[in-house]
Amino acid sequence: MKISRHCFLKIRSAMPALSLALVTVLALALGCTKKPTNTNEILVGEFGSFSGSEATFGQSTSEGVKLAFAEINKKGGINGKQLRLISLDNQGKPEEARAAVQRLITQDKVVAVLGEVASSRSLAAAPVAQQYQVPLITPSSTNPKVTEIGDYVFRVCFIDPFQGLVMAKFAALDLKKKRVAILRDVKSDYSTGLADVFATEFKKLGGEIVADESYQAGETDFKAQLTQLKGKKPDAIFVPGYYTEVGLIARQTRQLGMTAPLLGGDGWDSEKLSELGQDAIKGSYFSNHYTTESTEPIVTNFIKAYRDAYGGKTPDGLAALGYDAAGILIQAISRTTEITPKNIRDEIAKTVDYPGVTGKITINEKRDATKSAVVVQVDGKVNRFIKTIAP
Ligand code: PHE
Repeated sequence: MKISRHCFLKIRSAMPALSLALVTVLALALGCTKKPTNTNEILVGEFGSFSGSEATFGQSTSEGVKLAFAEINKKGGINGKQLRLISLDNQGKPEEARAAVQRLITQDKVVAVLGEVASSRSLAAAPVAQQYQVPLITPSSTNPKVTEIGDYVFRVCFIDPFQGLVMAKFAALDLKKKRVAILRDVKSDYSTGLADVFATEFKKLGGEIVADESYQAGETDFKAQLTQLKGKKPDAIFVPGYYTEVGLIARQTRQLGMTAPLLGGDGWDSEKLSELGQDAIKGSYFSNHYTTESTEPIVTNFIKAYRDAYGGKTPDGLAALGYDAAGILIQAISRTTEITPKNIRDEIAKTVDYPGVTGKITINEKRDATKSAVVVQVDGKVNRFIKTIAP
């Protein structure tokens, strides 16, 4: 029996503490059943962290996805059918991410799923898409294990072995750093994977990893770990985490009197980073998927359309990747003769040279995208473009 989305959301907003599974049980008990599906619509699911300590990840991604959907729907949709997006909030929790994908596929009967941002949540949820053979595209999960889950799981971003190499080279060759300390989130697949690659590549380039300390997302006091690092006199600190912790870490680093720049990966990308890190994060560097300073028409058009749609807001890398993931999905659906999850999967796999705002996207045999990365420097609300590094 299908549950009405309207009813489901009503229960959810009345009782936000309930898990998705409990809301579903309650909805069934209350008899919230669904009207017959509108055959003039193509249903696509999306799951993300719309709340919690990584809320800007989910929100930005969703704004990018919605912009792409609005553009195609305005042009008449796909063969006269309008695309409808069903978005579910997983509050940044892996088990909720898994339940969301289960619900999107079994209750809402979506033909494809977009999400997640964080690798740990994609790793928790993508096996469900694989099990039901519904294609899933993660816009931004960079851990290699995500697409290894199976042939229904794709990504439109680069992977951490590349991103880690980019930052190791940047630290060793551009900044001429010799002694780097690492501070990693041990519970995050993204953070540990990226920290490992960085360490290996930095050592290959002749550098030394002088300390390797850890924390867990949700912590707010990093002084103990930072004091350990300080004793090793690093000339840079690599922090492959997400913006909420990174902002606090930056401030506490400076409070302890360390002046070495912080280095990081795409997980820093949020307007909240500089709000939390203030002056302490200024001047630090991270690798990212695109730069708003690009003069390519495809990028400037996207930025303009996004600003028009969202009250002048500048799109971050997540919004850009959400827009590209949706664009690739739309193109794949348009190429199918009959819209089925299997046919869509086959068409996504054939993506070659898709002109994305985050660069040209070709899906390779591992269902990953091979693309350039950019290095940017934090300067208040803006991230200054430093360089592009090709694969
Ligand atoms: N790459 C990160 C991960 O795999 C997610 C992320 C992508 C965060 C882009 C910010 C920007 O967990």
